Amino acid sequence: MSRTELNRQLHLVRRPAEKITPLDFRLVEAPVVNPGEGQILVRQKWLSIDPYLRERMNDAKSYLPPQPLDEVMAGGGAGEVVQSKHPEIAVGDQVIGLGGWQLFATMNGAAVARADTAQAPLAAFLGAAGMPGITAWYGLRKIIAPKGGETIVVSAASGSVGGVAGQLAKLSGCRVVGIAGGDIKCRYVVDELGFDACVDHRAGDFDAQLAAATPAGIDGCFENVGGVVLDAVMRRLNPFARVAVSGLISGGYDGQPVPIADANMFSTARVRMEGFIVSDHRELWPEARAELAGLIASKRLKYRESIATGLESAPGALIDVLEGRNFGKQLVELP
Ligand SMILES: NC(=O)c1ccc[n+]([C@@H]2O[C@H](COP(=O)([O-])OP(=O)(O)OC[C@H]3O[C@@H](n4cnc5c(N)ncnc54)[C@H](OP(=O)(O)O)[C@@H]3O)[C@@H](O)[C@H]2O)c1
Repeated sequence: MSRTELNRQLHLVRRPAEKITPLDFRLVEAPVVNPGEGQILVRQKWLSIDPYLRERMNDAKSYLPPQPLDEVMAGGGAGEVVQSKHPEIAVGDQVIGLGGWQLFATMNGAAVARADTAQAPLAAFLGAAGMPGITAWYGLRKIIAPKGGETIVVSAASGSVGGVAGQLAKLSGCRVVGIAGGDIKCRYVVDELGFDACVDHRAGDFDAQLAAATPAGIDGCFENVGGVVLDAVMRRLNPFARVAVSGLISGGYDGQPVPIADANMFSTARVRMEGFIVSDHRELWPEARAELAGLIASKRLKYRESIATGLESAPGALIDVLEGRNFGKQLVELP
């Protein structure tokens, strides 16, 4: 059966000079592309709004090629299979994949993953049980590898990556200190996610607050922010501390450098700092996804979502993430 209805898409039509604006995108209507052999057609229900999308808009060397102009904006999504020419995927399956900013995505069946919605809601497979959660899982388990009793600091702690990283560190028996912007986010990090403390990077003397929250120094840092936040953490690192560099969002991902103020700790404290990109470790995703979904099902992993509605809201939702206005995993719902 072929579909004749129109697809709705958002195309990137120009590269933002610095901050993105909705005018960088155009809404396009186009016929739905029926799937060929091995492909599926997905009616997307959720778009995942992630900081890395901003970096893709630059025409610059990075770990991913630049987003082409006048094509569907790339990005993760989740939805229901409405046509399948893949032997192992059935109409009605709930899947996640890189469907981009559009209602209907035609994708290779081999490139999507099935969401086990008996364990967690579909949207969670874009957040705590999806790419962001797996990022947290990888950086914490494989780079920081915390031991019980250590002090672990997590920046952007109320977000989809940071929230999972901190909760996994708590499950490993660590003292966990979050860093977040504002009193409401900090209270959520402690009261709802169960961190031991949270430091507000927007309030008062950040160094003094961080020192008070980390009396035994810092053994591991899950870094999402960089800049003055990372500099303050570096000053409190214990010998042989590990810093997993997940992201440096304080730089805005618009091509500006993000300096480190003082590299002395690398030698004096024998610190190891390691950057990573979660998509380099696809072989671990099924294991990580299953563990995270299981933790959600057993209510040992909590998360929060910011939901914008309608395809047209996607650019504004990304601006919110880059400016810290989201609170938890930023999604766009496509009714
Ligand atoms: N390495 C990988 O493979 C990988 C994969 C996915 C994500 N990441 C990274 O993980 C980090 C978190 O991503 P997410 O999707 O979970 O987003 P998120 O944490 O939900 O949202 C981003 C948060 O960053 C904080 N922020 C923004 N600008 C800031 C600034 N100038 N200074 C301090 N904090 C700032 C804001 O929180 P506050 O209001 O609390 O400051 C904002 O809510 C990002 O750095 C992202 O690039 C890495």
